[in-house]
Amino acid sequence: MEVVILTGAEEIGALAADAIGALLARKPAAVLGLATGSSPLTIYDQLAARCDAGLVSFAAARGFTLDEYVGLPADHPERYRNVIDTVFVSRVDFAPGAVQGPDGLAADVPAACERYENAIRAAGGVDLQILGLGTDGHIAFNEPGSSLASRTRIKTLTMQTRRDNARFFGGDVNAVPTHCLTQGLATIMSARHIVLVATGAGKADAVHQVVEGAVSAMWPATILQHHPHVTVLLDDAAAGRLQLVDYYRETYRCKPNWQGI
Ligand code: GLP
Repeated sequence: MEVVILTGAEEIGALAADAIGALLARKPAAVLGLATGSSPLTIYDQLAARCDAGLVSFAAARGFTLDEYVGLPADHPERYRNVIDTVFVSRVDFAPGAVQGPDGLAADVPAACERYENAIRAAGGVDLQILGLGTDGHIAFNEPGSSLASRTRIKTLTMQTRRDNARFFGGDVNAVPTHCLTQGLATIMSARHIVLVATGAGKADAVHQVVEGAVSAMWPATILQHHPHVTVLLDDAAAGRLQLVDYYRETYRCKPNWQGI
């Protein structure tokens, strides 16, 4: 796991955008794993600006989102499909239909989850997966207790996650859906490169567990310790509880210039 501690969200967005730009330059038809939440927003801003400037193109690329609330109407602004369209997809040059997400309105949920797994597989798998981190250590919506071998399925959201996300629903926790469809931990682990982004002191405990804790379903993101290519991009506050913080800083400072994340 490579841990990179940067000055803030802007620098994090630029470094992640560099990695995605480099991927698209060597593989224009790359498959991107897209995350919602506030953490990746500066990445999307950077990519939109670079696309406007003609520096990067998504015309041949594809994307898969991580998760979706169950039951939100198709036109609900907080439906993750609509969120990712607003914050990213509509701002760059993806071909129509190139970005897919789990169907939170499916009548047959297990069939929809299986279709989603098959679609990711048929696309050749995810080349680079962007991830945020829940304060309880969830990635996508794999809440504590999730099977470390899980695939796309329905999950019940914890009250902590519903409270965390109430800010997107006018502060009303009861307006936050109780269920979601989410890629499983094994689905996420199938991506070839994973870039996890976390900022702010509220994530410091979860970050400490992910990077330095024991692998456990209680902190689902700890499964990433078993992945050969994970990059963790943090600000100082999110890195605040890391034991080996000086080592991570030194390692990145001494990294050869030619080597991206
Ligand atoms: C939600 C999403 C996750 C996201 C997490 C953190 O629960 N399902 O994919 O990583 O929130 O969100 P934020 O980046 O806004 O802190």
